[in-house]
Amino acid sequence: MTHAPMLAAHTEHQMKPFSHLEPYAGDPILSLNEAFGADARAHKVNLSIGIYFDDAGHIPVLDSVREAEARMLAEGGAKPYLPMEGSAAMRSAVQALLFGDGHPALAAGRVATLQTVGSSGGLKVGADFIRRWLPGAGVWISDPTWDNHRAMFEGAGIAVQTYPYYDAAGGGVRFAAMCETLAALPPRSVVLLHACCHNPTGVDLTQGQWRELAGIVRERELLPFLDLAYQGYGDGIAADAFAPRLLAEQGLVFFVANSFSKSMSLYGERAGALSLVCADRAEAELVLGQLKATVRRNYSSPPLHAAGIVARVLGEPALRGRWEAEVAAMRERILAMRRRLHAVLASAKPGRDFGYFLTQRGMFSYTGLTAAQVERLRAEYAVYLLRSGRICVAGLNSGNVERAAEAIAAVID
Ligand code: LMR
Repeated sequence: MTHAPMLAAHTEHQMKPFSHLEPYAGDPILSLNEAFGADARAHKVNLSIGIYFDDAGHIPVLDSVREAEARMLAEGGAKPYLPMEGSAAMRSAVQALLFGDGHPALAAGRVATLQTVGSSGGLKVGADFIRRWLPGAGVWISDPTWDNHRAMFEGAGIAVQTYPYYDAAGGGVRFAAMCETLAALPPRSVVLLHACCHNPTGVDLTQGQWRELAGIVRERELLPFLDLAYQGYGDGIAADAFAPRLLAEQGLVFFVANSFSKSMSLYGERAGALSLVCADRAEAELVLGQLKATVRRNYSSPPLHAAGIVARVLGEPALRGRWEAEVAAMRERILAMRRRLHAVLASAKPGRDFGYFLTQRGMFSYTGLTAAQVERLRAEYAVYLLRSGRICVAGLNSGNVERAAEAIAAVID
């Protein structure tokens, strides 16, 4: 073989430009979900990732979505690129969903909306846009928040700091401290807020607190960036849009990234949107242009299939009605699991207050379990939750809730 010596020599002198790379430690949420998948124990319980599982432990395909897809398949048609800003039908359906049909901000044409690759795509496009057009503006995130918020904004080259949020002692929001911090920020600081179903704590602002916050935003000229990933899982589809509707009503300028991953159970379809509510129509047109340029530089255009589903489910009255009922059923099932968890823990540990399971909203509960207790739950009971003590209540079902609750009771001193 005449080539062998040449190959060996080539390998010896081969350039290794990436040998200095640090090994990736993995994402705290996604890696844990993978570890759960690899666990061979039949009785394992997945309370790690923010995914809605039904009572049989499956990710449901909603009837409304199945019907929309059947219609799409029957209609056939080519699969062209969508424009950079996404499907026009989906974008206007999203605007009506977020702000309510005929909201004055929509009538005034001051909302620039584009379909994005999940709401993560919306956060990333928003982050790149902020970095380019508001250079020097910092982003403030809640303490604590979804792990990826910091990584996304820092990844876009933006300085990220925190504002006080969760009150570990009382289980509520440190609202006075939060307001004090926000009131001292420089104008045009970006404040990332969870519009509903705070991730990871499940503790939301009240409507009165949102109103107070809107006053600070106006006075300090801050730029809220709402993350609305769990619409419908809190108090209802319209009720969970209280924050964007209020801020828009008050004439404020703000971002909102919303997702259909959870509300339509469309995780892998990457169905989301980014809206920027602007001062007026002229500003919204400029903003839309630059958001499109940001998309082109990132991923060119969003997915066609996701747009087809969302536009049909939101836009066709029969599908819309079915979807709203399905969202209500998912929300109710989570609430029922919260009550079961609470009942088992309250009777196992009568001296302790587990009322937070009943008052927190959405998929998540912050349990206050320590990292050591979380590790015992995984190792001894095959119950998976985040190191922070966050559980995804939607991973509980009538077949595992008692066992999970008893395991939690067993690791609490
Ligand atoms: C979560 O918080 O578990 C979800 O939003 C899924 C994710 O991507 O982290």
